[in-house]
Amino acid sequence: MKSVFISVVLVVFSYGLSCAQPPDTNTDESRIPPYTLPDPLISPNGKAITTVKDWERKQRPYILKLFTENVYGKIPAKPAGMHFKVTETDSAALNGKAIRKQVTIYFAAGDDAPSMDLLLYLPRTNKPAAVFVGLNFTGNHTIAADKAIKPARHLKKKDQQITDSEAIESSRGSSASRWPLEEIINKGYGVATAHYYDLEPDDKDGWKQGIRTTMKDALHIATDAWSAIGAWSWGLSRIQDYLESDAAADAKRTILIGHSRLGKTALWAGANDQRFSIVISNNSGEGGAALSRRVFGETIRNLNTSFPHWFIARYKSYNDHPEMLPVDQHMLLSLIAPRPLYVASAEDDKWADPKGEFLSAKNAAPVYALYKLQGVTVNEMPAVNTPVGATIRYHIRTGKHDVTLYDWQQYLEFAEQNKKSE
Ligand code: GCU
Repeated sequence: MKSVFISVVLVVFSYGLSCAQPPDTNTDESRIPPYTLPDPLISPNGKAITTVKDWERKQRPYILKLFTENVYGKIPAKPAGMHFKVTETDSAALNGKAIRKQVTIYFAAGDDAPSMDLLLYLPRTNKPAAVFVGLNFTGNHTIAADKAIKPARHLKKKDQQITDSEAIESSRGSSASRWPLEEIINKGYGVATAHYYDLEPDDKDGWKQGIRTTMKDALHIATDAWSAIGAWSWGLSRIQDYLESDAAADAKRTILIGHSRLGKTALWAGANDQRFSIVISNNSGEGGAALSRRVFGETIRNLNTSFPHWFIARYKSYNDHPEMLPVDQHMLLSLIAPRPLYVASAEDDKWADPKGEFLSAKNAAPVYALYKLQGVTVNEMPAVNTPVGATIRYHIRTGKHDVTLYDWQQYLEFAEQNKKSE
């Protein structure tokens, strides 16, 4: 009895410490319940959608509405009075290779309006550059060991004993491996990033400090009519707005990228804002690219328990019933059509259900086919480090939940190949 008690305590304790998957997590293919995916090309009255016209006029808005009402909530329009202030420019950043700009994006008139800090690196070319747009997890100053980067407004300090400036200096560049700037700039692309906390701190009470509260009246939206993922997505569209005002950026070639929870965000932002020309989901998992009906790895219940603020309240009613959802995540991917879409998984990232991400990418293909574009055509999961597919591409890389140089190399190649269709 005593040993059972000790082992239960140990399991609970180690789960709490490592935030590992709960003990009842399914990672066994044979335990997946039988399921049928909803067909993105069947209209609400049961008719087959066979033309781009019917897809764009009726079915696409209908599916977007289903996700809005059941999963992510609304996304308000661009606010009035929005303005930008370029606070710093260096035309010889990254050892002379890049232009660095830091811009404050104000969400309303006046300099005391809610705002976010944008960090931009552009190649030193004489033509406007295509730009990767993505939020970062730990602050702009962590994406490169560049002393000129303005530190994040919200510091995540593990050690409360150290001062803010010690925390800033010791975390400069700590996420640099996820943002291989040299590689990106050398290929002629730019990067635009902001800390997602500037929009809404990522905890259950974050909405009280974030734009869902500070912009509530200006945006005419109740705080619970949208979600943290909605607020972060809205911020990505505001970056696009800025890029449209910057002659050095090619705002018709913006490539949305996000990892994990920010990959879920990139997909939702890309579904809502069709100005983004390519969308990349890196290990976005449950509530992102992965199919919910497979019940493999993370579940809707897990998401809503650990992160109740990410989605709207109604999503909780599907906690143990993904089969009751009128959508599954392949339909979110289909909303990216006809734009190029890249879905990437990692072999050791079972929590995100790599196969569920693959099947989701595969099942978005019929919508791309309406545009005569090819999605993922292979039927089986590809071997590791072997990208497959055309306008929808998929890979599963070796290694853990992360964004690596390998991932970026594939994204850069994908962007190059899709230059014409942008
Ligand atoms: C947790 C969460 C995932 C999420 C990930 C991340 O693991 O359960 O849904 O994608 O965090 O954002 O890193």
